[in-house]
This record gives sequence, C-alpha cells and structure tokens, in this order.
Amino acid sequence: MIYFDHNATTPLDPEVLDAMMPFLTSLYGNPSSLHRHGRVVNTALEQARFQLASLVNVSPEQVVFTSGGTEANNLAISAALKADKRHVLFGATEHPSVTETVGDLSDHGFTTEALAVDNNGLISVDSLLNKLQPTSGFISVMLANNESGVIQDVAALSAAVKNKGLVFHTDAVQAAGKVTVDFNQLGVNLMSLSSHKIYGPKGVGALIHDKATPLSAMQRGGGQEAGLRPGTENVAAIIGFGKAAELAKLRLNERAQHLAALQSSLEQGLQDVAGLTVVAAEVDRLPNTSQILLDGIDGEMLLMQLDQQSIAVSSGSACSSNSKQPSAVLTAMAYPDKLAMSAIRVSLGQQNTLTEVNDFVAKVKLIAAQRR
Ligand SMILES: Cc1ncc(COP(=O)(O)O)c(C=O)c1O
Repeated sequence: MIYFDHNATTPLDPEVLDAMMPFLTSLYGNPSSLHRHGRVVNTALEQARFQLASLVNVSPEQVVFTSGGTEANNLAISAALKADKRHVLFGATEHPSVTETVGDLSDHGFTTEALAVDNNGLISVDSLLNKLQPTSGFISVMLANNESGVIQDVAALSAAVKNKGLVFHTDAVQAAGKVTVDFNQLGVNLMSLSSHKIYGPKGVGALIHDKATPLSAMQRGGGQEAGLRPGTENVAAIIGFGKAAELAKLRLNERAQHLAALQSSLEQGLQDVAGLTVVAAEVDRLPNTSQILLDGIDGEMLLMQLDQQSIAVSSGSACSSNSKQPSAVLTAMAYPDKLAMSAIRVSLGQQNTLTEVNDFVAKVKLIAAQRR
C-alpha cells in the first residue's frame, strides 16, 4: 500500500508510541492529584508542553492543550466574542473548523467577511486593508492550506494590521512540522496546532496563546489548562503530541528536504500528461503537497482507480446531499467547476520513497491514457 494522504492524517511514529505506552499502562495517575502517581504524570505533561512550545518558539505557559485542531480553532474564535468590535475577517480558503465557527458568529450580531484569494490562493495585504473596518476585531488566516499546500504570508498580513486593535489567529495545523513555524515571527495572537498531522496521535491539539488575548472557555469544569480547557487531560495523547513535536523539530530540515525532492520528482514526472495542472505551482507551498487537476478526468474516479491499485490519495470534492460539489478552496481560487472536479491531492510523508512516487506517476499516466 502506498500512502499519499498525510494531510488527512499521518501514521503514528514508533518513537511516539513508545513514549505514550507507560501512560496507557503503569503511569495512570491523574496529573491534578497531589500524591506521587499524580506528580509523576504532571511532570511528564509539563515536559510535553515544553516540547510543543519549543517547536513553535513560545514559552510553555502559552500552550493550551485541546482535543485537536478543530477545538483549537473554535477556542481561538471565542476571542471574537470577547472583543467589543463586531466585524470579523477570515480567509476564503480556511478549513471548515474556522468557516463554520465564524459563520455562527452572525447569530451573535457579528458581520463576517471572507478575504478573497487570488488564483494562487493568496491573500494580498492590499485586499486585507481594503476590507478592514474600524469595527474589525478579529481575523483568521491559515498559514498553509490543507488542499493546495499554499503558504500564506501571515507575517506580512499581521504586520499590516498591527496596532489596529485586531486579534489575529492563524491555523498552522498543516504547516507545523513541514516548514518552520515561529509564533513570534508570524506576529499573531493565537495559533492552532494538531498532533495527528505530525506523526502524533489523533484527538489532541493545542492553541498557542499570547497570554494577553481574552478567550472564552467552551466548557466549564476544573481549572485544567489555566481554566481554558477544563477536564482531566488526555495524558497519553498529550505525551505523544509532545514527543511528535520534539521529533518534528529535530528532523524538520531532513524531512523537508526529503519531501521536496519527492514532490519535485512527482510533479516533473507528470508534467507531460495532457491537461495536467499543478495548483499554485509557482508560489510558496508545503514541500509535501501537490494538488493536481487532470482536465476531463473525474478526481473521485481517479482516486478510486488508484485505491484499487493500492495507492491512497484524496480528492478535492466534497459530497453534500448526494450531489458532488467542487472543492471550496479551488472555487475560491476561481477554477471552473468542471476542472475543479478533476482534483486529487497528493500529500507525501516521511516514509514515502522515490520508488513509490515513480509507481504513482506511471499509474496516473496509464489511467489518463486509458480515459482519453
Ligand atoms: C488546516 C486544518 N485545520 C484544522 C484541521 C482540524 O484538525 P483536527 O483533525 O485535529 O481536528 C485540519 C484537519 O484536517 C486542517 O487540515
């Protein structure tokens, strides 16, 4: 089986599993307990906080562990509710955990506005400044897109609105572990991360917090995570996330070079296929992500054919009420519906090899030739 769907989720790194095991077996204490069973677990939890903090260059107190990227995005957007200003901006290609949550703000008297992207999926500083209003209080722009891999210049966007009284949130779920992510360099107030995109376990993530922006906890309970995420911690998962973050930092350059080499072989291998487009090929992208359009070929059909040949990729379309819709990301980038329906996303990972890439290229070429 060739697994090329790492933006959906990554396999657990064996070293991460090793780090987690004691906390699923003998070290079962509650980190809030004062006796030694609790204290030993609490120390490990704080070590994981430290490991995650150093991946994104913040101090451990800035890390709030959550149940994943989705919850981190929801918690971040709670900052909008705390702000006096009622105009909210968000990127047109954000993940549904941002768009759906921002959408709900209209029930609370907010006006929400999407920031348009260009054909490469990028938001310009000018278009942001044009949309900015005196009542703008919150903005969410993702660092790297999950479908296209396009990297936004979040630092430039945040610098453009600095001192204008906005809370700036970035969803860095796809960027972390693939490119350098430095919270302070990005100049944001809040940042979301998720463990299962960096070879950690599912069901754990984090919100990085500047400690100055007021947030509204989504549930009530004990004082865990500084009261921002009450409930007994998912200890083993957090320990795994910490270990995955440590490995991501240690291996960042090595992984990025490996992925970039595979990505370039893959895209070059496919370049002579008729009707092929690599989305946003000319701009800064994640080294592991290639979104490919094959004019005249249905993306989902291609996905299923590749699946039959033991290759896992994802398609760009989303199913709603039994009718297929083109990807909202590609629509926002002004791709016509028919072309957008041909999209597949290839997202590579640390264990992939050149042999696998060559195999994929050969199979796509064969399918494309048979379909035409
Ligand atoms: C950009 C982005 N944000 C948020 C999420 C949600 O993260 P999680 O699966 O940890 O809830 C994902 C997951 O696919 C994502 O790609």
